[in-house]
Amino acid sequence: MDQITFHYDTVLSDVHMFLPKARHLMTHLNHVGQPVFISKFKILSACERYHNNIGTKGKSEEEEQKHSDLKQDRDKDASIEEAGEEVVNGSVKPSLDKDGDLDITHRPRKKAVANRSHDLVCPIILQQSHSGIEEEEESTADEDEFFSDVIRIEHTMATPLEDVGKQVWRGAFLLADFILSEPTMFREATVLELGAGTGLTSIIMATIAKMVYCTDVGEDLLRMCKRNVTLNRHMVEPAGGEVRVRVLDWLQHDLCTDADVAFSWKKDEIADMYNNTSVILAADVCYDNDLTDGLFRTLHRLCTNFTHSCVIFISLEKRMNFTLKRMDVTCEAYNHFTVCLSQLQDLGNRQCRFRVEQLPSDFAQFFLYERVEQLELWKVTSTPLPREEAQPDS
Ligand SMILES: C[S@@+](CC[C@H](N)C(=O)[O-])C[C@H]1O[C@@H](n2cnc3c(N)ncnc32)[C@H](O)[C@@H]1O
Repeated sequence: MDQITFHYDTVLSDVHMFLPKARHLMTHLNHVGQPVFISKFKILSACERYHNNIGTKGKSEEEEQKHSDLKQDRDKDASIEEAGEEVVNGSVKPSLDKDGDLDITHRPRKKAVANRSHDLVCPIILQQSHSGIEEEEESTADEDEFFSDVIRIEHTMATPLEDVGKQVWRGAFLLADFILSEPTMFREATVLELGAGTGLTSIIMATIAKMVYCTDVGEDLLRMCKRNVTLNRHMVEPAGGEVRVRVLDWLQHDLCTDADVAFSWKKDEIADMYNNTSVILAADVCYDNDLTDGLFRTLHRLCTNFTHSCVIFISLEKRMNFTLKRMDVTCEAYNHFTVCLSQLQDLGNRQCRFRVEQLPSDFAQFFLYERVEQLELWKVTSTPLPREEAQPDS
């Protein structure tokens, strides 16, 4: 495959666009003929975060000292190299051209930052199959690939809009970073993820939380998500967490309990989800106004049925688009999202109060991706009102 052809309605996530080719392994074609890849995303240690020049907040004092020493060494080397000198056995040797002039060379990057590489993606076909889920569970890669700090995600790379969940989006990384930055907040929690896509955020959450209901729509997508959960059980099981992949459609009023439908809910799971969910996650799910309305209706319905407080974390990327309708660059999906947020807040004082706040996005970055300023994290806290204060819903 020399060139990837994009159709007019095809979207490609920046996560996949900017990964160096070495990380893409095409494994098979899925049931609808889309090439499926497996990407490995490493959870970076504080040292690696420093070397890749990405967020190093949340370090211990010892790490802080180590990084400060490393930084001093690196800055010294860098200033020497920039001045056209090279370090030989600890002493500084000036670099001169043939006329004896000081030769100032452009300093090469010490380490390429993977997500800024714009290399063309050249997938390698490993095997082609239409195998079912059980077969694919067996055929996971070599045992030695199972490192506790590497998450392996099966995904497609360019999809029509209705299949965007089969790609990994930056919002998933932003939420995963937040979870890894604040582990105490999620320890032993029961969590519900809405629009989970490939399941990356749920899997990371399950390395800390007790139970994660990882939900989305579409059998094909949910199967892919389930395979990802299986691919990463080495990260989740030792931590005592569990991920259950289930169907949850924001455009439907009720949860599906039809045993003939794949990924439907069991009665006891519904009870557990309603009784115990204290955290709801939603990563990059506000890109279509009708779907955003459905998402907020779902959030409202869930929270007003909880008898306890719940915290909702929503990550999103503000995407600017030129529209013919407005003849301008706008961000309609984002604007609609903010309207929904304020409506949710105003809907309070019925059964439940909602408090909305935007969180700063400067927490530690554990994954390699570009944390662009358009990435935002929102927190909504829902608190049930005492019966005497609650008003019936109109
Ligand atoms: C841009 S993707 C984000 C996927 C994943 N959270 C991530 O960040 O990588 C949006 C997700 O919303 C899901 N979605 C769209 N409509 C939905 C609906 N009616 N009910 C539930 N999920 C829906 C899609 O299937 C998709 O997985």
